[in-house]
Amino acid sequence: MTQYLSRRAATITPYVAGEQPAGSDIIKLNTNENPYPPSPKALCVLQAFAGERLRLYPRPDGGSLRSAAAKVYGLSEDHIFCGNGSDEVLGLAFQAFFDGDVAFPDITYSFYPVWAELYGISYKLVPLNADFTIPVDDMRGNGVVFANPNAPTGIALGRSDIERILQNNSDHVVIVDEAYASFGAGTVAPLIPQYPNLLIVSTMSKSHALAGLRVAFAIGQPHLIEGLMRIKDSFNSYPLDMVAQETAAAALLDEPYCAAMSEKIIATRENTIKRLADIGFRVLPSSANFVFASHPQASAAALKEYLADNGIYVRHFNKPRIYDYLRITIGTDAQMDKLI
Ligand SMILES: Cc1ncc(COP(=O)(O)O)c(C=O)c1O
Repeated sequence: MTQYLSRRAATITPYVAGEQPAGSDIIKLNTNENPYPPSPKALCVLQAFAGERLRLYPRPDGGSLRSAAAKVYGLSEDHIFCGNGSDEVLGLAFQAFFDGDVAFPDITYSFYPVWAELYGISYKLVPLNADFTIPVDDMRGNGVVFANPNAPTGIALGRSDIERILQNNSDHVVIVDEAYASFGAGTVAPLIPQYPNLLIVSTMSKSHALAGLRVAFAIGQPHLIEGLMRIKDSFNSYPLDMVAQETAAAALLDEPYCAAMSEKIIATRENTIKRLADIGFRVLPSSANFVFASHPQASAAALKEYLADNGIYVRHFNKPRIYDYLRITIGTDAQMDKLI
């Protein structure tokens, strides 16, 4: 019944998140979560949290998380904006920086067109090359956004290509969504002092195994952070609760733990790519914690169903160009054995 809905709510096509099936026996390889637990130091902070403090509002700027991110990236705090998952930070960034004609790849994170439509921002889709790489010189608009590595392909652009996109769009903000940067591609944060139009969005959901806490941040020069603050303070001043701020800060500062988990995932990924290739899959080169694979004889939709019937959840996108592919999150070695 749409009679009570605004025109916007009635006509929008919302993003469809991967399933969160219940059950302890299932192998969940469909939403790029980390198979390992969060940092033990973060879990200590969480357990020691004194609940009576919750009568107060949290710090509106992310507090200790903002300081931790500034320290880890070697920048001052006015370069950091903290939010409730990168979905929120990206949504705020669309409102802060784009008026229309924003460019992003035709195959990328499928939330980008949803925000554009929700906020009435026109967009142009830049078709990926036949090998699913981003055509660097075609990435031009009144604003640009892409994921590096891209999702769901897993393919990363190098730093010089990203600089080219920044230079080709010097009058507009270029958002680099680094959700999966810790699994090989690395961050382009060292470019921030040079590029006033660069905004990086980084999440703690994947590399820090904190998808359930909903924490992310953006990194950019202070005038961009100011723009995000203006939108945040016109919508929800306190996007991150105290527990999230303090737990995430401890996880972020535990750099050796995060690096060791990412190394393990990268080793499992490379092994999985070989094993999938051995049984006839075409697998794109991945710099992420997932692989994108197709098989010449088996339909991806049927494989997804077959795997789900056997308790293994992977992601299939019913979309042109990628209909034959499955996106498979890298789990533990034992989970990948079962998948193969
Ligand atoms: C490319 C990309 N960006 C952003 C997100 C959102 O992450 P979160 O809201 O958990 O920070 C995802 C989640 O899968 C993603 O794949």
